[in-house]
Amino acid sequence: MNFSFENLEEIFKQINAYEIKSSDDLEQFRIKFLGTKNVIKPLFGAIKDIPNDQKKNYGQEVNSLKSVAETRYEEVKTHLDATQKSKAIADLDLTLPGEPLNMGSQHPVSIMMNKIIDIFEKIGFAVAEEREIEDDWHNFSAMNTPEDHPARDMQDTFYLMDSTKYLLRTHTSSVQARVMTTQKPPIRIIAPGRVYRNETISARSHCQFHQVEGLYIDEKVSFADLKQTLLYFAKEMYGENAKIRLRPSYFPFTEPSAEMDVWLGTETEKTYRLTKGTGWLEIMGCGMVDPQVLVNCGIDPEKYSGYAFGMGVERQALTKFDIGDIRLLFENDVRFLKQFSTVI
Ligand code: DAH
Repeated sequence: MNFSFENLEEIFKQINAYEIKSSDDLEQFRIKFLGTKNVIKPLFGAIKDIPNDQKKNYGQEVNSLKSVAETRYEEVKTHLDATQKSKAIADLDLTLPGEPLNMGSQHPVSIMMNKIIDIFEKIGFAVAEEREIEDDWHNFSAMNTPEDHPARDMQDTFYLMDSTKYLLRTHTSSVQARVMTTQKPPIRIIAPGRVYRNETISARSHCQFHQVEGLYIDEKVSFADLKQTLLYFAKEMYGENAKIRLRPSYFPFTEPSAEMDVWLGTETEKTYRLTKGTGWLEIMGCGMVDPQVLVNCGIDPEKYSGYAFGMGVERQALTKFDIGDIRLLFENDVRFLKQFSTVI
């Protein structure tokens, strides 16, 4: 082959005249002029055989040939891409029904929990989140439930393997101990979170569920403060006409202790069923923080008093959304979950 300047001229013409109408043509062009075995490559190899006085000139020409091919390739490619795009747009049938948008939805437990948080944040409670793996002291001892205390049998505990010290918290009351040992009064917190108990799983109970704990410690906190706060909560959650009832009860960490019921009535079949014909639904335990708990956590009971409450989230979610089986809340079946909107 004769590597003359005419030869370069010929390839130059070929590059410019190459007919490219489709992306297939473009690919052929690329293979011929820019691919691994392209026609320009051997010309570089020939530089060494060119007489010295022409070498520089020749080299420059070969190089510019390469960039001409590259430029043409890029230009045509940009043009083809743009045409393809506008063709796709022109082909769009705007009268066709749209693809369904699969929006995510919030889990009913989250909806309920966020609503509870909102209600208490409005009156100045801060959210305290704590660990689910707790030690025995925060979950039980600090909360006035020493080892031999019969109240420990009230809650079937999951202990961590080979440990009597670490456990999955059985209630969010453990957060009370966490907060009281690290913060100074006044304390006004709610603690939402997951808790665990070794219970047989059924339509009505599960081995994992959620609670929201409340704690208010300050000077001169009274039972009347507790009652008004809970009435406010019931009205926000169950409507302006909501009524509450406090029944005397027992918890090791409160004295006096109570259980709170909210009035749903018996008018509908649903409320009759949920309240077992009484009209009342039990939603939380509460009481005045036992002075011994304050002492355990390093707070002076002569100066401070407080109230606490702990409510279950699932039972309220089942009521609110009319769900018949608690297990549905933990099975992550999308057909079930997508039914819930975030508005309640
Ligand atoms: N921790 C209790 C439970 O899980 C609920 C409870 C009762 C929390 C009374 C409280 C309280 O803060 O004052 O059954």
